[in-house]
Amino acid sequence: MATLAELASLRTNLKESAVDHLLRLTASWSLLSDLSFSDMLLMAKVNEPSNRGGENFVVLGQMRPNNRSTLLNDDLVGTTQRLDAWPLVRDAFESGTRTIGEVTIENVEDVVPVWCVPVRHDGNVVAVLVRLQGPLRGPASLYEQAYLSIFDRLCSMVADATFPYREDDVAGPGMPRVGDGILLLGGRGDVEFSTPNATNALHRLSIYASVEGHTLREMGLRVRVVERSLEFGIPAMEEIDRGQDVAILFHCVPLLDHGIVTGVVVLVRDVSDLRQLNRVVLNKEAAVREVHHRVKNNLQTISSLLRLQARRSDEIETRNALQEAERRVRSIAVVHEVLSREPGEEVVFDEIVRSLVLLVEDTVLALHPVEIVVNGELGTLSTDLATPLAVALAELLTNAVEHAFVDFGGAENDHVGVVTLNLYQEDGNAVAEIRDNGRGLGDDFSLEVPTSLGLSIVRDLVRTQLHGSLEMNNVPYAEGGGTLVRVVVPTTARL
Ligand SMILES: Nc1ncnc2c1ncn2[C@@H]1O[C@H](COP(=O)(O)OP(=O)(O)O)[C@@H](O)[C@H]1O
Ligand SMILES: [Mg+2]
Repeated sequence: MATLAELASLRTNLKESAVDHLLRLTASWSLLSDLSFSDMLLMAKVNEPSNRGGENFVVLGQMRPNNRSTLLNDDLVGTTQRLDAWPLVRDAFESGTRTIGEVTIENVEDVVPVWCVPVRHDGNVVAVLVRLQGPLRGPASLYEQAYLSIFDRLCSMVADATFPYREDDVAGPGMPRVGDGILLLGGRGDVEFSTPNATNALHRLSIYASVEGHTLREMGLRVRVVERSLEFGIPAMEEIDRGQDVAILFHCVPLLDHGIVTGVVVLVRDVSDLRQLNRVVLNKEAAVREVHHRVKNNLQTISSLLRLQARRSDEIETRNALQEAERRVRSIAVVHEVLSREPGEEVVFDEIVRSLVLLVEDTVLALHPVEIVVNGELGTLSTDLATPLAVALAELLTNAVEHAFVDFGGAENDHVGVVTLNLYQEDGNAVAEIRDNGRGLGDDFSLEVPTSLGLSIVRDLVRTQLHGSLEMNNVPYAEGGGTLVRVVVPTTARL
């Protein structure tokens, strides 16, 4: 579907500033439609060679009322309307004054009461605003009469080129609607009437007395934009808050008559629930962050307890076991540390890798001076995958540092121990290779029947939890020797 600007440039000879004016009109015409309980069309003269007389109209825009059912089921935007079907539109164009009458429309049963309001811009009529009134449901109520009188005044402003406002930056989808509540103020700011919803909103601001006949200021409510609108005829919006719980939006639509402000329509919307919802959403993210932070703190507490206990135990075996447990807990804490900074479904795994390397260096490098080199990266991974993978990698790195260089190399033959961690993504898998240039796996080594705890944990995490594969092999002497551990886990599988 073509936009108003496209239709105008393709099918009319309207100037850019006129098109701008029409765009501003359609940004706020839901107000007109709702105040008059009517469908609206915006028509301009067609300027095409096939239409030599220049007499046909093109529909540039269409608006349906929010508070009534529509008369027009068809989408008329972009359609050409013949002059003889719309004599009142032509009259409005030619006379520059509002024309009122009836019209027959295709696919609509009865004749439709119609107002044709010339849209003036820079002294010329550039389009006609057509109001198509639906069937009346009995005599108009007091509010309906008030709405219609406001509509009438706004139509005069359209013809006078004072509506839409030049400086209206508050029109559009965010603006309050007629149904939210209306206060009609007279030229001196006294409330002429207040709809039930507007009265409710004022109650929430602790104004309970009847406001009619008084100014808002007299009722103890100071809304700066209302005062500004009354004084300068400028539209504006302001939110008034009462504590944490109440937020009311005031949108001022000044009414002008020959340049004089004769009143202000104040659309009033209670946005308290909306604001509260925003606060809840913001709080939720902070809460998730906080939870990760606390989990991390708790894990660190557990790891300190294990460390203390390890120091107190005299048996070397017990002490080692406790130290290993401490390291495992810390490798889980690393993941939560990263999540407490950036909570979400995914986590930047490379930050975790950096911390893991520091952790391994911190715990085992004191025993064996070894160089740890990281190549490549895994990018972001889902948090379900990150924690088990981090624990497995910590375990494998520790093993390499701890076991590969025992009784091997050393100062006498200048062997430098290097552990390399290669990381990359391949065919939907995260691949991690841990390689060392140490003594290699012993002849009796078997990954399939490990009795030791470390590799049992790794096997369980990689194969069972992550549905991945784990291999450990000796690297031939000609290729540098040592051990290569390959971990491949699918990144897309649901855990
Ligand atoms: N990179 C490696 N180089 C040489 N041997 C290794 C390597 N990784 C593991 N091993 C051997 O596998 C054994 C089992 O490891 P693991 O299950 O982690 O138990 P632990 O580390 O407590 O000994 C180790 O004791 C070691 O003999
Ligand atoms: Mg181990």
